[in-house]
Amino acid sequence: MDERGILNATPTQLLIGGGWRDGSAGRLPVEDPSTGEVLCEVADASAGDALAALDAAAAAQGAWASTAPRERGEILRRAFDAMIDRREELALLMTLEMGKNIGESRAEITYAAEFLRWFSEEAVRISGRWSNEPSGAGRLLTMKQPVGPCLLITPWNFPAAMGTRKIGPAVAAGCTMVVKPAKQTPLSMLALAGILTEAGLPDGVLNLIVSSKSGSIVAPLLADQRLRKLSFTGSTEVGRLLMEQASGNLLRLSMELGGNAPYLVFGDADLDAAVEQALIAKMRNMGQSCVAANRFHVHESVAGEFARRLTDRMGRLRTGRGTEEGVDVGPLIDADQRSKVAELVGDAVDRGASIELGGVVPPGRGWFYPPTVLSGVRPGTRLLREEIFGPVAPVAPFSSDEEALAAANDSEFGLVAYVFTRDVKRALRVVEGLQSGMVGLNKGLVSNPAAPFGGVKQSGFGREGGFEGIEEYLATKYVAVDL
Ligand code: SIN
Repeated sequence: MDERGILNATPTQLLIGGGWRDGSAGRLPVEDPSTGEVLCEVADASAGDALAALDAAAAAQGAWASTAPRERGEILRRAFDAMIDRREELALLMTLEMGKNIGESRAEITYAAEFLRWFSEEAVRISGRWSNEPSGAGRLLTMKQPVGPCLLITPWNFPAAMGTRKIGPAVAAGCTMVVKPAKQTPLSMLALAGILTEAGLPDGVLNLIVSSKSGSIVAPLLADQRLRKLSFTGSTEVGRLLMEQASGNLLRLSMELGGNAPYLVFGDADLDAAVEQALIAKMRNMGQSCVAANRFHVHESVAGEFARRLTDRMGRLRTGRGTEEGVDVGPLIDADQRSKVAELVGDAVDRGASIELGGVVPPGRGWFYPPTVLSGVRPGTRLLREEIFGPVAPVAPFSSDEEALAAANDSEFGLVAYVFTRDVKRALRVVEGLQSGMVGLNKGLVSNPAAPFGGVKQSGFGREGGFEGIEEYLATKYVAVDL
């Protein structure tokens, strides 16, 4: 299917109670970030539409909770198969609305589909416990039940995978849901909603709303007592605000927020591997990922060589429209994101950093920013503290393990850290000392549907994927049994 074909085949309305319908707030444009041109328009939901979506989720909850786990698992499995079958067109759709290169979009479709497969297998493993009271007098029965209707808010950077890693466990656990994708990238989620419907998901289990004014449709949902859970992936700033709004209703929360991943390269590291993996950790999604390596702390004995090799590798990447085969680096999502990246680079240079590569906004259409390497980055520089969300690699030297660990932990965030060393004892010492929810040990990519993804500190709480992922959608009921 070509670009126009896939756009024409993708639903553009809201999905509420099993029916596709227009939004009461009109329509909103979806843009191609590599040209700034409008690709299509989709329905724009009002607060009334959002509440109608919750009405549908609440009405479907009882029947859905009592379906057989196998039935829920098989719906997910069929949706997994359909995503894999349609990988090529879904990848094209994602590249069009988000900009990442087509190879990365294909990889994301596979990654996204794997969450559905993983949770199709977990649906049938929800278990409880039967045990004796310590006194022997009675019995303790615990069972797991679906939390209830959920609001799932997903970001623009991984338009499919951030959806399936919430939708997969919610479906498997027996929860109904209202899904709200980011307004910049609603098309992947609209296509996914179509796939889940075709896979047999009953009406009202998944309701999808898109909005140009998120705050105005999310607040009434969070205040509605029928909603029982919020799962959010996005910035720490917005996460805090949502937590405040959710507190009135004491919602169960999963918060996957910002990151500021340190990438530690020790003097004994395999430098070839450290550079190759750095390319993945930094350049996946043009750096627009909460697990992107944000700052490279490199032992002073190899810092110069590491920066030189990284500059060489990043300098060979090809920038362009992500739909073209062979393009490595697509545009950033929008003008605001590009301005923020340029501002952070400007701050580093003002404070004495040297530009080894890139660092200049190119002329022409689209929100492109070149792969950039900065050396001699001084402590206190903003991009060592703030999430960059762009293809910029600051390299700062350290002289001891203690200094490296202190620098790594000197952040309000704690999502992921990367460690490169050949010394097992050093590796384990450093891994234990890192304040992060995840660590990549001699590996620049930690994301895996079978693993618990999530952070500590201001990076949030809750885990997505792995055995832990489904627990976020289950409530424990305990029964005291008198025999
Ligand atoms: C994210 O950037 O929010 C998630 C990235 C991933 O799952 O790999």
